[in-house]
Amino acid sequence: MRSPGLRLVAPLVLCTLDAAAQPLRQLAEERGIRIGTAVQSALLEEPIYAATLAREFNQVEPESEMKFGPIHPAPHQYRFSPADTLVAFARRNRMAVRGHTLVWHRQQPAWVTEGRFTPAQLSTILHEHIRKVVGHYAGTVYAWDVVNESFREDGSLRPTIWFNSPGIGRYGTGYIEQAFRWAKEADPRALLFYNDYNAEDGNAKSDAIYQMAREFKTRGVPIDGVGLQMHLTTKIASLLSVEANIRRLTELGLQIQITELDVRLPVDAAGTASVMDIAKQAEIYGEIVSLCLKFSHCTAIQTWGVTDQYSWIPGEFPGQGAALLFDPHYQTKAAYQAFRTSLSIPSRNWSFQ
Ligand code: XIL
Repeated sequence: MRSPGLRLVAPLVLCTLDAAAQPLRQLAEERGIRIGTAVQSALLEEPIYAATLAREFNQVEPESEMKFGPIHPAPHQYRFSPADTLVAFARRNRMAVRGHTLVWHRQQPAWVTEGRFTPAQLSTILHEHIRKVVGHYAGTVYAWDVVNESFREDGSLRPTIWFNSPGIGRYGTGYIEQAFRWAKEADPRALLFYNDYNAEDGNAKSDAIYQMAREFKTRGVPIDGVGLQMHLTTKIASLLSVEANIRRLTELGLQIQITELDVRLPVDAAGTASVMDIAKQAEIYGEIVSLCLKFSHCTAIQTWGVTDQYSWIPGEFPGQGAALLFDPHYQTKAAYQAFRTSLSIPSRNWSFQ
């Protein structure tokens, strides 16, 4: 919930700013933060999709095109062109590119999952994969989600082919460390992130991520940041707890990026959400933006898609949807207005007190 401080500051600033005409990316540039979104490169051919993307955002991330399966479908075949199309679009439109993701348990090719490889062979495969993919995008991708979703809700490591089934032959978080070291080797200038969901507030998973990050920093493992996915519902965790988690991570010297923000709502057969939920959703978007802006180390906010039309939510969570800033007809929603209002507040470090 917002504090009285926020309510007092916002209207004062807004009357002098005339933020109404400015797209998000312009406001974001003034605030020194990146506003990104996940993109399906095939959709760039739809003029209104491309126009909305270029007008409102200054960062893109391929929704799937850089994942292991899509980008490395056969042992000696790399399919770079869909992501290259996005990179070219980003360059034309002065947008930063985030890379996603090098190590994940989903969207892997059958040649890896069914190859019956030994740990030594898997280690070679992963090293080569990271070397090739990160190498290909060196100088264009400024930040990578090196490892995605390695922890379970109880804070234990998720069993995966890279960790222990059979794994690349490293103990515990050693396989994560190894992936970071290989990514650093392939592009010493890219920022390297660990990325996960349900790890926004203080809980067993975020504790495990914090412990790992602290240990990595102590030993000089090249980690630069933690990505908080933020696939939210209207029943979100306490913002104070999210703030405390962000604070402890930034105190390690890490950047925080909100990487996959969406707020899904129950929808009817036509995809329509209730008026109450739409208002609540707007409030949450506004609060998340304000929270990120409190931290100079919170450097990007990214939504998981441009428009509800192509959001992953209805496919993954049947009966839910309407999770993004633009409706299926590219009209801005209340969430967009709230996002913009929070971005319009000029101070990056004012406090809730
Ligand atoms: C999702 C994509 O949006 C879907 O299109 C795809 O079928 C599955 O992956 N966490 C992540 C993202 O890190 O890569 C996922 O993206 C959503 C959850």
